[in-house]
Amino acid sequence: MEDGKLYIVMVGLPARGKSTIAARLKENLIKDGIRTRIFNNGDLRRKLARKDTSSHGFYDPENKEGVALREKIALENIRRAKNYLYNVGHVAILDATNVSSKRREKMTSLLGDHPLFFIECINNDQEILEASILRKITLPEFKHLKKDAAIKSFKHRIKYYSSIYRSLENERNIVKLDSLNNSIIEEEITEDILYYDRIRDFLVTDTVKNLFLIRHGETFFNLENRIGGDSGLTENGKAQAGALAAYFREKKIPVIFTSKKKRTIETAEPIMRMQKDCVIIPLEEFNEIDSGVCECMSYEEIRQRMPYVYLTRKEDKYNYIYLEGEGYVSMKERVDNGVKKALYLSSNPQNIMIIGHRAVNRMILSHFLYRRKEDVPYIYIPQDKFYHVVATQSKKLFQLKKY
Ligand code: F6P
Repeated sequence: MEDGKLYIVMVGLPARGKSTIAARLKENLIKDGIRTRIFNNGDLRRKLARKDTSSHGFYDPENKEGVALREKIALENIRRAKNYLYNVGHVAILDATNVSSKRREKMTSLLGDHPLFFIECINNDQEILEASILRKITLPEFKHLKKDAAIKSFKHRIKYYSSIYRSLENERNIVKLDSLNNSIIEEEITEDILYYDRIRDFLVTDTVKNLFLIRHGETFFNLENRIGGDSGLTENGKAQAGALAAYFREKKIPVIFTSKKKRTIETAEPIMRMQKDCVIIPLEEFNEIDSGVCECMSYEEIRQRMPYVYLTRKEDKYNYIYLEGEGYVSMKERVDNGVKKALYLSSNPQNIMIIGHRAVNRMILSHFLYRRKEDVPYIYIPQDKFYHVVATQSKKLFQLKKY
């Protein structure tokens, strides 16, 4: 491809992370001076359609009027993408479900002037899907519906798309991506795809533009050095939450992820209240290490009453697993899953915030920053400072900041 132009075609059922990946990919390419534009069928439909197109009936493959209108919009975007590459553009990303083979054949025949590269986003994690749907129905097009009706309608829409969904098969250049885990399930490249190396690396890289990783404010248990439990914030802890809220007021924080524990939610609430549009999403994956039989004890009580626990943990803190509880080693998978969930659910924002706990935040930091295992349980996680983390393909930053 001597002229350096490329069509990228997104493929996948609704709520599989296509638009997030397309948006990030575009930002990433633009940073390298590659002129990139997204042609999104949903956006164009909302702009052009005179009628309400949010009801699920519009997506019924038997609804002739709906099919015709969606086809018209797809063709219009194909025309615009072609025009863009004909003129100044380098990469045109066609962002839509593009789930049927028929649609993709049409695209292949109409966009014959440059190579096409298909990215299929796959994610069948039911829990994530439910959570994504809850985020989707906050879009203006569902405003007129009550929550349950909006969920039902969106699920119905997915069902209609599923009935015509064919996974990539005969296309020449494809990647099937597990869009929750950022891993490639299948890849087949038969042409010279310009920028492929960087796109491939980008697809498997966890990207956070700005992550503010905060530990909850001081709790009653903290005062007594007690571990675990579900204690609330002290007056000092509440003041810390207030100071955080003031500190972050000028930044846009659309989502705050917390654990399911009171202390993280109580820290998040004042921050949320100071923001214009912000939601708190509590995730079990961010719950503090379960210290099993030692829950609610103080370190001193453990040392005196269970010296064996105290000593064995001291010897190998990373691998020690509390009886009937967890250890750092066994928490890793769930915390990593929590990070993936948080990144997936937050789409592509400038800032994301996680309010967690001491052990959990150590694991989250080690997700982005390589630390030797034996050092992870000793990473410094204070309550009067937070970590600012940037992790992109071209930049890694870890900064401990006072608020
Ligand atoms: O003290 C607070 C706490 O979050 C406990 O709930 C938890 O068991 C502990 O910190 C984890 O830190 P460490 O692994 O250093 O004991």
